[in-house]
Amino acid sequence: MEVEEAGGQLENAGKDEAEAEYHSHDFEWEDLKAEVESDPAFSYHLSPFRVPAASTTSQPQPSSEAWRSFHRRHASGKFFKERRYLLKEFPELPNSKDYSKILEVGCGNGSTAVSLLRSSESITVFACDCSKDTLEKANEIISNTKGIDIKDRFQPFLMDVSKETFPDWLCCIACKNASHHKMRKEHPGFLRENQCCVGGMDFITMIFTLSAIPFAIMPSTIEQCVSVLKPGGLLLFRDYGLYDMTMLRFLPHQRVGFREYMRSDGTLSYFFTLDTVRELFHAAGLVELELEYCCVKSVNRKNGKKMQRVWVHGKFQKPPS
Ligand SMILES: C[S@@+](CC[C@H](N)C(=O)[O-])C[C@H]1O[C@@H](n2cnc3c(N)ncnc32)[C@H](O)[C@@H]1O
Repeated sequence: MEVEEAGGQLENAGKDEAEAEYHSHDFEWEDLKAEVESDPAFSYHLSPFRVPAASTTSQPQPSSEAWRSFHRRHASGKFFKERRYLLKEFPELPNSKDYSKILEVGCGNGSTAVSLLRSSESITVFACDCSKDTLEKANEIISNTKGIDIKDRFQPFLMDVSKETFPDWLCCIACKNASHHKMRKEHPGFLRENQCCVGGMDFITMIFTLSAIPFAIMPSTIEQCVSVLKPGGLLLFRDYGLYDMTMLRFLPHQRVGFREYMRSDGTLSYFFTLDTVRELFHAAGLVELELEYCCVKSVNRKNGKKMQRVWVHGKFQKPPS
């Protein structure tokens, strides 16, 4: 299961692999596409999706409850692996101005949040997840991580982004409508007495979270996230790419939509093309700055099997007002 991404259980051999994963382009995505699309064993991944006759609903249901159960079952926090490579991949994070505010959507055990907090002492990370257990675990892991003073800099909150709207304290209506300049000037740090809200986010990170949300709900989820991003702010995206090894392992009965699958525990996984990502973020009013596949080969140390991983890396900006 690709929560392996968050857990580092996986396949990768070599101590510097986490870095390598995001900096190498070991093969061409077009070559993998040609290979997969000409292999009859994979043909069921390519065909249009038809809702099974016995199904009572035409869309996969939000898998938030499945994620909550997942986190309850994995309360030890073993699905934690600091994502240090993100700072190299998105250099604007460590180089951001003082008092940057970042929203980590679907923070899990804090694998991304830890790296963000480590990158600068003046960064505040607001982190939401639909699971209370994982938020508690993230808080515990971050509090116990050496070298990070998190006092007031890590603000976890419970929220199902597929259903709920962000709380007003994150960005109130007045601030949503205010100019970039006004928002920046008036809202340093975390919410203080008499302050309307924290004033919107300079960055939003969506790292292996959007793929966990039903495809049909992605547009409204992204719109919701963009509503709390300041004009000029960046949305940083990392997620599964089409024909990633983990997609090809899904069996026909696990398909719940086109390029959309359900794991045996009920959590969902969608596999993105660049065009899909482009359309989703453009529709939410964002401008594309970077968008590419990251294609990495690695070898399973235990069985020597070759693995071809595909991720999508994207950077989008909310137009400055
Ligand atoms: C693969 S993990 C990624 C965690 C983290 N972003 C990281 O970098 O490791 C996906 C996370 O999204 C959360 N999630 C899934 N659906 C969600 C929803 N509807 N609302 C909020 N969080 C959600 C899950 O609980 C899980 O922690």
